[in-house]
Amino acid sequence: MTAPDSTSPPPSLSAVRVAAAVRHAVAAGLLGESSPVAGFVDTEGVRDSVAALHEAFAGAPGVLHTFAAKAAPLVPVLRLLAKCGMGCEVASPGELRISLDAGFAPSKIVLDSPVKTRDEIRRALALGVALHADNLDEVDRIAALRPSDAVSAIGLRVNPQVGGGSVGAMSTATATNGVALRDPGARERVMEAFAARPWLSRLRAHVGTQDCSPELNVAGIGETYRLAEDINSRLGRPQITCLDIGGGLPVDVTTDTVRPAFAAYATALRGAVPGLFDGRYGLVTEFGRSLMAGNSLIGARVEYTKEAGGRRIALTHAGTRTATRTVFTPDAWPPRVGAFDADGLPKAGPALVQDIAGPCCFGGDVVAPARELPELRAGDYVVLSDAGAYLFSTPWACASLPRPAVYGFGTAPGAGQDGLTVRFAPVRDAQSLDSIAAESGLAHADALLEPDA
Ligand SMILES: Cc1ncc(COP(=O)(O)O)c(C=O)c1O
Repeated sequence: MTAPDSTSPPPSLSAVRVAAAVRHAVAAGLLGESSPVAGFVDTEGVRDSVAALHEAFAGAPGVLHTFAAKAAPLVPVLRLLAKCGMGCEVASPGELRISLDAGFAPSKIVLDSPVKTRDEIRRALALGVALHADNLDEVDRIAALRPSDAVSAIGLRVNPQVGGGSVGAMSTATATNGVALRDPGARERVMEAFAARPWLSRLRAHVGTQDCSPELNVAGIGETYRLAEDINSRLGRPQITCLDIGGGLPVDVTTDTVRPAFAAYATALRGAVPGLFDGRYGLVTEFGRSLMAGNSLIGARVEYTKEAGGRRIALTHAGTRTATRTVFTPDAWPPRVGAFDADGLPKAGPALVQDIAGPCCFGGDVVAPARELPELRAGDYVVLSDAGAYLFSTPWACASLPRPAVYGFGTAPGAGQDGLTVRFAPVRDAQSLDSIAAESGLAHADALLEPDA
C-alpha cells in the first residue's frame, strides 16, 4: 500500500490487506462453517480517510466534518470517528441516540431527519445539537418550541434542484426534495423565513449519494452559497453564518482507491465557490460512503455451487441481507468480488463466469451476476469490496436471517507467510436466534389469542 499524500487519493483497502484479513479471519474462525458471513472494517484505512478529509479542507476556517451516521450506524465505528475528530450527522432518533453513546459532544452533532416529530425537536433543542429544518412548516414548528436561550444552531435544508444522478431514488436535488428553490415563489418564501427568524443561521444542501458526480455536487453547493449571499445582502446583516454542504462524494467501486479524493473535491469546490473558504461562513460536511466504503469488506462462505438455467451459481450467505441496495439496484454500484479458497487464500485458475447468489429464496437475490472468477467450490469464500457503507452496517432482515457479525481489524508487520499479523476487534456480534425471536414479538406470543384481540 502506498502512503497517502495530499495530492493522491487516500488508499482504500489494498489487495494485500484484504488477503491478510481474509486469511487471518478464516484461521481465527471469524469466517467458517458456523460463521459463514461477516463484515470487516479496516480501522487504519478509516483513520487515513479521515486524515485525508481534514487535510483537504485544512484551509477552510471553522469547518466541522460530520460523518453521515446512516452510512455505518455502528457505535464502535462512530466512536473511532469521534476520536479522529469527526462530528456526526444524524437523521433519526436512533442515530441521535447512538451518536451520543459513541461519545460525540452535542455541539458536534447535526440532526436533519426529513420528518421530525415535536418530541424529537424538543430533545434536540434540550441537548443543544444543531437542527436543520426540512421545510418551512418545520421552521414554524421549531420556532414554537425553541426557548429564547436555545444554543442549538438552526438551519434550513434547501434543494438547489440541480438535477439527479444515475440512480434517481438516491438523488436529493431532483424536483421534489427539501425546499425546492426553483419552484415559483420558493426563494421569496425562504427569504421571508430568514427575515422573520433572526436565529435561523444556516443553509444546507445535500445533492445525492454515489450516483451524483462531484460536478453536480459542486453546482448544488454553488447555488446554495449564492442564496446565502442573497439573503445576507437583502437582510443587510450576516445572518447566515454557516453552510452545510452535505456529503455525496462518490466512491469508485472498480478500483482500490477512493476517487475522486477529498483533496480533488475541495480544490474543485474552492475553484467554483471561493467565497466558501474566505472565512465568512463556517462549513459543515456530511460525508459517509467516501469515508467508509473502501475501508471494508464482506466475507461469505460458499455453501454450495450449482448449474441452473445455463448459469453457474455460487450459493453464499451474502445477498440482499447484507447488500440490499446492491441487489435491488444491480447496475448502480456493482461490487468487486474476490475468490478465496477454504483456507482464506486467494484462488488462482482460469476464470469462469459465475453468479454470486445469496440465501434468500427469490431469484433476484444475486449480489454479483456473471462474474469472471476462478472456479468457486463449496467451502470457498467470496469477498465483496467497498462494503462498509450502507451494506453490512444496515442489514435487511428478510427471511429472519440474522445480522452478521462485524469486526474491525488492524495489520502490523509480523511473522507468517504474508509478513503481517492481523488483530481483530468485535464491532457487532452476530445476531442470535434468541434475538430474532425477541424482535419477532416473542414477548407477546399469546397477544392475539386474547378474547378481545
Ligand atoms: C442528508 C444526507 N447527508 C449525507 C449523506 C451521506 O452521503 P454519502 O454517504 O454519499 O457521503 C446522505 C446520504 O444519503 C444524506 O441523505
